[in-house]
Amino acid sequence: MDLTLHVWRQAGPDEPGRMVTYVDEARDISPDMSFLEMLDIVNERLIAKGEDPIAFEHDCREGICGSCGMMINGQAHGPQKGTATCQLHMRKFADGDELFIEPWRARAFPVLRDLIVDRQAFDRIIEAGGYITAPTGAAPDANLILVPKEAADAAMDAAACIGCGACVAACPNSAAQLFTAAKIQHLNLLPQGQAERYARTKAMVDTMEEYFGSCTNHGECQEACPKEISIDFIAYMNRDYVKAQIKNRKLTGQAAS
Ligand code: SF4
Ligand code: FES
Repeated sequence: MDLTLHVWRQAGPDEPGRMVTYVDEARDISPDMSFLEMLDIVNERLIAKGEDPIAFEHDCREGICGSCGMMINGQAHGPQKGTATCQLHMRKFADGDELFIEPWRARAFPVLRDLIVDRQAFDRIIEAGGYITAPTGAAPDANLILVPKEAADAAMDAAACIGCGACVAACPNSAAQLFTAAKIQHLNLLPQGQAERYARTKAMVDTMEEYFGSCTNHGECQEACPKEISIDFIAYMNRDYVKAQIKNRKLTGQAAS
């Protein structure tokens, strides 16, 4: 396949960026390559010409780590639903295609270089409560704490979030509700997550709102999510957030008495 690539190039966070077109570097691309392997080939050719390779983030290349996100023709992670960029294959495109490749666009995710953005705002949300503070020790016997099958399945669905940021990039408000809801609910749905349920919810939602826009129910997040996480989790999060306003006050009262 011969492609024409238009790629966002930006030398650093404070440098101006621009789209650069690559034609010769994107010739003879095998349809069996992954999208990142195609970028590897382009980079090898750029390096051979003495030019700077395109900076992009990647680690696992199997849809687990969440680092490889980029906009491809205006779609977060490209045109294949439920697929991270690293699992997208060039057979999804046609010979002669023109591809526009850009970093996530959101104020909370500033561009570091080319296609790499800083997703530390997600880390701030996790730091606010995305964990259980009780020492867990060694892995307990599987049936020591009984978990209803429905709750276990729902928690597992939420836990599939890889923190890629596609939900934010796809949202017209750059909201992080889907990410935050997934990270809250995979704990809130399980017995082990109950002790800190409402403190966690309030802290994580309040932190999210410091960095990200508000949800206005566009649903683009769900469409862009490579793990197909449902916006139902946002409803669960909102329910827990409302309850937290009362529950947390009650807990404070108990602590004071
Ligand atoms: S909710 Fe989906 S799109 Fe958002 S960070 Fe998690 S995996 Fe990525
Ligand atoms: S490189 Fe890890 S999810 Fe794509």
